Amino acid sequence: MALNRREFLRRMVIVTAMGGVVLAGGVVLGEKLLGNSGGSAPTIPSLGGTTQGTNQATTQGTVTGTQSNSSSNVPAGYVLVAALSQLSGKNAAYFTHPTFGSSILVNVNGQWKAFSSTCTHQPCTVGYNGSSIQCPCHGGTFDPSTGAVTGGPPPSRLAEYATLISNNNLYVGNSVIN
Ligand code: FES
Repeated sequence: MALNRREFLRRMVIVTAMGGVVLAGGVVLGEKLLGNSGGSAPTIPSLGGTTQGTNQATTQGTVTGTQSNSSSNVPAGYVLVAALSQLSGKNAAYFTHPTFGSSILVNVNGQWKAFSSTCTHQPCTVGYNGSSIQCPCHGGTFDPSTGAVTGGPPPSRLAEYATLISNNNLYVGNSVIN
């Protein structure tokens, strides 16, 4: 059936409006998928990026993922996290431990320490301000040298992994030491 011009334009308006709803729904879904539930982590830039943290007193970064361990140079019992050059100028960096998941490196007086970055009170991501590991959700604090609780509600220390520097790379142990 042939449409007259008026009917054609009316149908176009309906189709366009429906498209808008679908697009708007897509944006909302995307925001939900990208949203950070259970508390917000400190804003920490990528090690290779150019942005700076907004709520941390000192420079931090993110290792974009545990790197391939295909190299025969990886010490037994360790996993490669980052080249030291990636950590230059940083005092902390998030990384994903292949076994334990979300984790954080913190530099304590020149020595890199590695812990789970998930608070032991509730699943919030902790951050490092250069002197203390802190949880943004309820104010829990942890000793950056040991992961031990120094304040707030967390019931137990952060899981710690051994760190090892070799061949200008930083490795972490593939088991929890504390
Ligand atoms: S979730 Fe970390 S202090 Fe509550």
